[in-house]
Amino acid sequence: MDEKDIIRILVADDEKPIRDGCNRVLTAKGFDVLVAENGKIALDLFEKEDISILLLDLKMPVIGGEEVLKVIVERHQDVPVIIITGHGTVDTAVECMKKGAYDFITKPFQIEHFLATINRAAEKRRLEQKARQLQQENVRNLYDLDLEKSRLKTIINYMANGVIVTNRNMEAVLYNPAIMRLLDVSKQVSNPVPASELIEDDSLINNLKKILSDDLSDNECISQEIQTRNYFLRAISAPVLGPDSGVVGAVTVLENITAFKQLDQMKSDFVNLVAHELRSPLVAIRQLNSVILDGLAGPLGEKQTEFINRGVKKIDALLALINDLLDVAKIEAGQYVQHLAPTDLGKIIEEIVALLEPRAKKQGVNLTFSYEDLKPVQSDPKNMEEIFNNLISNAINYSPGGGDVSVTARGLGEYIEIKVKDTGVGIAPEELPKIFNKFYRVKSPKTRDVMGTGLGLSIVKGVVDAHHGTIDVESVEGKGTTFKILLPVMMES
Ligand SMILES: Nc1ncnc2c1ncn2[C@@H]1O[C@H](COP(=O)(O)OP(=O)(O)OP(=O)(O)O)[C@@H](O)[C@H]1O
Ligand SMILES: [Mg+2]
Repeated sequence: MDEKDIIRILVADDEKPIRDGCNRVLTAKGFDVLVAENGKIALDLFEKEDISILLLDLKMPVIGGEEVLKVIVERHQDVPVIIITGHGTVDTAVECMKKGAYDFITKPFQIEHFLATINRAAEKRRLEQKARQLQQENVRNLYDLDLEKSRLKTIINYMANGVIVTNRNMEAVLYNPAIMRLLDVSKQVSNPVPASELIEDDSLINNLKKILSDDLSDNECISQEIQTRNYFLRAISAPVLGPDSGVVGAVTVLENITAFKQLDQMKSDFVNLVAHELRSPLVAIRQLNSVILDGLAGPLGEKQTEFINRGVKKIDALLALINDLLDVAKIEAGQYVQHLAPTDLGKIIEEIVALLEPRAKKQGVNLTFSYEDLKPVQSDPKNMEEIFNNLISNAINYSPGGGDVSVTARGLGEYIEIKVKDTGVGIAPEELPKIFNKFYRVKSPKTRDVMGTGLGLSIVKGVVDAHHGTIDVESVEGKGTTFKILLPVMMES
């Protein structure tokens, strides 16, 4: 809509030809025009209508122009008043301007001058209205902002989780009572306060510094566990972005996970205990059976040898399961990786491949291994054997119809990349995220006969994580699966 549409001009003059003339000219220019033949009608109209500009004759009956001006200046400061004046009364008009009129025009009107004056007044009125609108918007925004701030403050203050916001100078500028409790801060602190006065954990402080140096990629956050005197806490830290998307600070949310940790510890202790109690007698039974099989307890018949051999196989499977359970418990207790030493992965994998070769052959699987540019990795060799034994066994086991299993290893900058690739049954996309879970096995008619407990990959993942490596899997059902591991090579010192 043209803005002129909302400019409404009141022409107050006792001379009809003037009223009619103004009405005609201004209506033709798109203004909305009202007329009044005396001051009283003019003032009444002001009460009822939204008037933008007043054209005001000074000499009018009932209530004169000067009195009208006084009322309008008092009650409607935003309405520009243009005084209509005869030649002889210019001085009075000037006097009126001192009292608050916007401008004056002299009779008889020169049409161009008349319109220019009206347009100027209309422009003033528009600008003033715009300024007022902006000011109102501003006030509203400030109010909204205030409301938002108070809402945020209430939410943060009553949250069970700890929240702390740090600025670019590593000062805490916003923090809640929960964080004080979780971080064991009892003294009164100022705001802002250096973050290091609240947070004692160096790794969390370092991660906050990392966030502030803009080292993270988009939408990334850092999750870590920290321990205070009383609690285990999970800390999730993320950058706070300014309007120009630059990092202006960091926000950290702390969750108390002490109860989970304790439960987890109890579970690990329990598994450990049970596994140990089962293992010792089983190992003894295994040894006794070996003694019998070796004929040290007297000669055995064919049937006896067969039955004892079958028994020993079952005992071995049970021992393998117990060993897996113990491994899982150790990984979860962070005690699995024990003897770190420079390890030649090429040699380890070669040995595992040689060990599994007969099984592969029996299944019609062609097993190959090749490597290039390998540097030593800092690892526990036993752990590495475990990883590749699991992955290559899986590749063979889940290729029931035969096929190819290729293991390749190569140096890749600061990492060694190992791929175990098979042409077996593959894994459905919806199963992929679950296969690293403890005890998870994919239910498929094709692999029903494969024995297992579903612990292998969870151990593999635990070991890779403990060595600061990564493991990924790609698979196409019916075509095959590739596991890819990256392990950091040893830094030359
Ligand atoms: N190479 C593979 N091809 C197809 N499926 C696989 C492969 N490797 C693993 N899987 C699937 O992932 C599941 C979990 O593997 P994982 O090694 O953890 O357990 P498992 O082999 O069943 O038992 P175990 O604990 O004795 O190793 C398997 O049951 C199988 O369904
Ligand atoms: Mg397995």
